[in-house]
Amino acid sequence: MSQTPPGAYRPPNDRWGPFPRLAKRLPEGSVAVVDRTVARLHPGLIPALEARSPRAIVQLVGGESAKTFQALEKVLAAGLSLPRSGTLVAVGGGTVGDVSTVAAHLLKRGVRLVQVPTTLLAAVDSSLGGKGAVDLTVKGRVVKNPAGVFHYAEEGWICPELFASLSPTQVREGSLEAWKMVISLDARRFRAYVRKAPSLEKLVKDARALKEGVCSRDPYEHTGLRRVLNFGHTFGHVLESVSRFKLSHGDAVGLGILLALDVGRTLGVTPEPVAATVESALLQGPGVLGRERVAGLLGKSSLKDVATLLDADKKAGAKGELRMVLLTAIGATEVRDVEATTWRGLWPSWTKGVRP
Ligand SMILES: NC(=O)c1ccc[n+]([C@@H]2O[C@H](COP(=O)([O-])OP(=O)(O)OC[C@H]3O[C@@H](n4cnc5c(N)ncnc54)[C@H](O)[C@@H]3O)[C@@H](O)[C@H]2O)c1
Ligand SMILES: [Zn+2]
Repeated sequence: MSQTPPGAYRPPNDRWGPFPRLAKRLPEGSVAVVDRTVARLHPGLIPALEARSPRAIVQLVGGESAKTFQALEKVLAAGLSLPRSGTLVAVGGGTVGDVSTVAAHLLKRGVRLVQVPTTLLAAVDSSLGGKGAVDLTVKGRVVKNPAGVFHYAEEGWICPELFASLSPTQVREGSLEAWKMVISLDARRFRAYVRKAPSLEKLVKDARALKEGVCSRDPYEHTGLRRVLNFGHTFGHVLESVSRFKLSHGDAVGLGILLALDVGRTLGVTPEPVAATVESALLQGPGVLGRERVAGLLGKSSLKDVATLLDADKKAGAKGELRMVLLTAIGATEVRDVEATTWRGLWPSWTKGVRP
């Protein structure tokens, strides 16, 4: 393991291979945090960890319940006897990864972290870039990610065999987040994807390289450079909320991209042919759900509710304008403060499910 202090920024150190082979790299006496479902679906996983004589293996039920203080306490308790040079390995989706990142940051004021993303979303996004957080319940309402840290992983292990148990919906949502990065950051890769659909492995490799390219220039989110990663997220979050989280995050972001293209076109920031090319690529490639879903979701809501949700979004500006990432060309973006009148003008088309 490296000489950099635990959790400090370092370029990713990715290893690819079957989990049992990579597990041999784990120092003895480590602590493992494992998604219970993943352990059940992949019976070789726990024995491979046990062969490394871990101090403890904590199994968590994946999903937002893994990001409670209760789950965090469980991980911290298991890690009590870990020395400062010790290692915590997180095997799971973004939720297990996030809570483990916080635990790795707190234990002994920082122990080493190994991330083993088991969802595509975690592989292309959440297991990279140093962020981890837990949720908080305030007056009965769950607030997502208010208690967070930066704690970079020592290594990322990508074990493609673990992705075989993901549902088509989970594959689509991870793919949409990966396409988001290519659309907003890399025109050459975008054209290659349109010519020939990328394999899952290529999608993961490319998305990780692109996200790292952004994080390396702004590892602790000080300069605003990382904002580009929020492309599609402003209205994506709205759709996720309006669906009462029935819509997956990645599907919501896919639809959020379509709406961001509309806003960009209206403001003259996104050229018409660019928007048309991206929309058809998203339909044919990862399979974005389509505008009827936007209409169905927004139809159940109201303009006022959406305005309230946007206000609550931390990306909203002081005068109620939205700070949005808009596409200026394929692979290039600009951050714009968007007035409420702009998106309100698009509402009739959005609720009819047609392209404005
Ligand atoms: N830290 C970051 O930078 C960052 C970025 C994006 C998202 N996130 C966070 O990530 C979380 C979402 O991550 P997620 O989508 O991976 O969710 P998740 O961890 O809840 O996993 C989704 C579901 O898939 C199951 N699962 C995991 N691996 C599986 C496998 N290989 N086969 C079958 N089922 C499997 C889990 O048990 C769970 O039920 C959110 O909490 C979000 O806030 C963090
Ligand atoms: Zn996202």
